[in-house]
Amino acid sequence: MRRLRLVTAGESHGPAVVAVLTGMPAGLTLDRAAIDADLRRRQGGYGRGGRQAIEHDEVEVLAGLRGGVTLGSPVCLVVRNRDFDRWRATMDPWAPPTDPAPLTCPRPGHADLAGALKLGTRDARPVLERASARATVARVAAGAVAKALLAEFGAQVVGHVLSIGDEVAADEALPRDDARALRRAAEASPVRCADPAASARMCAHIDAVRAAGDTLGGIVEVIAFGVPPGLGGYAEEEARLDGRLAAAVLSVPALKGVEVGEAFAAARRRGSTVHDPIAYDAGARAFARPTNRAGGIEGGVSNGAPVWLRAAMKPIPTLQRPLPSVDLQSKEAAAAAAERSDVVAVPAAAVVAEAAVALTLADALCEKLGGDSLAEMRRNHEGYLKALREL
Ligand SMILES: Cc1cc2nc3c(=O)[nH]c(=O)nc-3n(C[C@H](O)[C@H](O)[C@H](O)COP(=O)(O)O)c2cc1C
Repeated sequence: MRRLRLVTAGESHGPAVVAVLTGMPAGLTLDRAAIDADLRRRQGGYGRGGRQAIEHDEVEVLAGLRGGVTLGSPVCLVVRNRDFDRWRATMDPWAPPTDPAPLTCPRPGHADLAGALKLGTRDARPVLERASARATVARVAAGAVAKALLAEFGAQVVGHVLSIGDEVAADEALPRDDARALRRAAEASPVRCADPAASARMCAHIDAVRAAGDTLGGIVEVIAFGVPPGLGGYAEEEARLDGRLAAAVLSVPALKGVEVGEAFAAARRRGSTVHDPIAYDAGARAFARPTNRAGGIEGGVSNGAPVWLRAAMKPIPTLQRPLPSVDLQSKEAAAAAAERSDVVAVPAAAVVAEAAVALTLADALCEKLGGDSLAEMRRNHEGYLKALREL
C-alpha cells in the first residue's frame, strides 16, 4: 500500500493477533461493534473446524484512538487467542516449551515444507504457527477500519461466495446491483452465498466431502459499490488499481487466482461484446456505463462503476485422510500431519478478501484525496466531485 501500511504479528496459538495500521486520517469515528461483527463473520461459515467454537474474537485497541475517534497516529488492534490457554506449554513467549508439539510430516499444499526449508528446521511448528490463516484476523480487523473510512465517502464493499467445489450460484439469483440486498442475502446463508438454492446444495456437498475426510475450495466475489472515479494510476505496478487489488487478494492464504471483471470469459470473446459503452447522463452531469464487464477499472484507474473481482480458493490442505509425505527427521515416507482443521473456508475467505479490497481502496482514496484529517479529505472530495460535474 502507498499511503496506508499494515503490519501484523501473532502466532496461531500464541497470546494474540496484532494489527498496526498507519496512515489513517485523524477524525474518523470507529464503531467497535462493526469491527467485532466482521471478526465474527470471518469465524463463521458452514465447514469450519473446531477452533471457531473456542475463539470469540473481539477487538481491543491499544493505540491510535481516543473516545472512538482516530488520532491520525498508528492504530494498534489486538485480538486475543483464547486457545492460548490450552497451548501455553507449547507457545508461551518466555517459558521453554514443555510440550514442543513438533510437526514433522509436512502437509502438501500447506507452508510446512517450504517454510521448514526456509528456516532450516526439521520441525514445521514455527512455520505453521505463522502461516496459519489465524493471521487473517488482523487483516479483517484492519479492513473494518478501512471500511469505516470508505463509508464516509459513500463506498461499501461486499464479499460473497459464488461457488464451493462444483456447486455454483446461479447468476440470475444474485442481486449484484444492490449492495444492501446482496449483503443481506449472502449473510443469511450458512456459506455466504446469495443464491439460497445453491447455498443448500453447497452445504450438502460439504457434508459429503467432510464424511470422506476431504476438503474443498471455491470462488469468492467482492464488489465495491460507490467507488469514486480516478483512483489508481496507469503505468506502474504500485500505481495501477487492478494490480494492487490483485496483489492484496492473492496475499490471502489459499487464494490462488484473481480476475478483475469478466477477465477470463472476455479473453474468449470479441472486443465489441466485451468493452462497456460510454453514455452521458445530462441530469446527473455524469458519465454512465450501462454495463460493467471491466469490473470498474480501465487503464489501472477506477472509472466510477462498481469495482468487482473474483478470487479462486484452493481446497484446504489439511486432510483427515492425509496425502503421502516424508518425515522431516527420519526422511521416511509417512502420512502428512492431520491437525484440527476446516473442511471449507470459502465463506470466511470472502470476508478476508473483502478486507483486502477495502484496505486497497482506502489506500487509493487517501492517495487521491490526501489530507491528514477526515475534514481535509472531505473538502478535497467535494472539490473533486464539483470539478467532475463542471467537466
Ligand atoms: C479463512 C481461512 C481459513 C483457513 N483454514 C485452514 C485450515 O483450517 N486448515 C488448513 O490447512 N488451511 C486453512 N487455510 C488455508 C491455509 O492457510 C493455506 O493454504 C496455507 O497457509 C498455505 O498457503 P497457500 O495456500 O497460499 O499456499 C485457510 C485459509 C483461509 C483464508
